[in-house]
Amino acid sequence: MTRTLTICDVSLRDGLQNEKTPISTEAKLALLDDLAAAGLTTLELTSFVSPKAVPQMADAEAVMAAALARHPSLRGVGLIFNEKGYERAIAAGAKSVALVLIVSDSLSRSNSGKTADEWLEAYRGLVGRIKADGVWVRGYLAGAWVCPFEGQIDPARALRYADALMSMGIDELCATDPIGHAHPEQVESLSAELVGRFGAEKLAVHLHDTLAFGLANVAAAMRAGVRIFDASLGGLGGCPFAPGAAGNLATEDLVLMAHKMGYQTGVDLDRLWEAVYRFEPVIGRLIGGRSRTWYDGQRAAQSVNEPV
Ligand code: COA
Ligand code: ZN
Repeated sequence: MTRTLTICDVSLRDGLQNEKTPISTEAKLALLDDLAAAGLTTLELTSFVSPKAVPQMADAEAVMAAALARHPSLRGVGLIFNEKGYERAIAAGAKSVALVLIVSDSLSRSNSGKTADEWLEAYRGLVGRIKADGVWVRGYLAGAWVCPFEGQIDPARALRYADALMSMGIDELCATDPIGHAHPEQVESLSAELVGRFGAEKLAVHLHDTLAFGLANVAAAMRAGVRIFDASLGGLGGCPFAPGAAGNLATEDLVLMAHKMGYQTGVDLDRLWEAVYRFEPVIGRLIGGRSRTWYDGQRAAQSVNEPV
């Protein structure tokens, strides 16, 4: 098994979509520059959804186009739900998109108006078109473990939708826990099933840290062979349509743990923290993963010891 983790930073989309204060396009691009400077090469940049539903993503075209112009070698993913979103994404130059299938019908309806089966039906044609265009596509298997309305998800149901998405020919499947209520045993068990079916190179896991289970769940998924993880700078995030959704797993916590375990990520932890400190005034509150107290202490000690 490879000793490398691939990290997809989702702060620009999942991290910001729930922020009430509008963040300027310029500030988003400055954050992107900092993330790229820290070594992140896969990022979810924005979502091409209704600006009425998610006002913070209303500048999707501007973010995608500028991001690809500034960082042509990045995989910059745009989230889409429908043909209209896909057309907006490719018009802005996107080469990678992600679509969302929510496993529970209640969450799917509250988030995006249709049941899981209805979305599956809608995606058949859309995925065919995306693949014919040569565009890379990730499919989110969203709420794969727990639903805020229905509780525990039957793993057989999650696997049925995973099979259905993969059989359409998507490039990567990403199992998510948007409310951060899944625990390590269930994460390991479903991850092992998914890795067994589709292979680790096609499988990602996306976790939130609501109950402080984020890194324990990463370790559990790693035991099952998962090597691609989403995370969000500063632990930013939350879903406007899922009650109780708190911040994402913080990218800096994930990178720290990976490096301590001897895994490579290609990410520079100090530069990542610089990005956190720089983005803080934009968001207007303290951000940062659970390792912040430790990192702040290291940083303070270093500046005391540095020659003046
Ligand atoms: N981009 C821009 N506007 C869009 C759009 C898109 N991709 N898809 C739909 N719209 C607009 C339509 O133009 C229409 O606008 P109008 O009211 O001014 O006429 C309105 O949204 C409703 O359109 P409709 O075709 O009936 O779509 P819908 O109501 O079935 O919406 C979604 C489907 C999923 C696109 C919409 O609910 C949405 O964007 N939800 C946000 C989901 C999300 O981002 N969740 C968080 C991430 S998981
Ligand atoms: Zn999320």
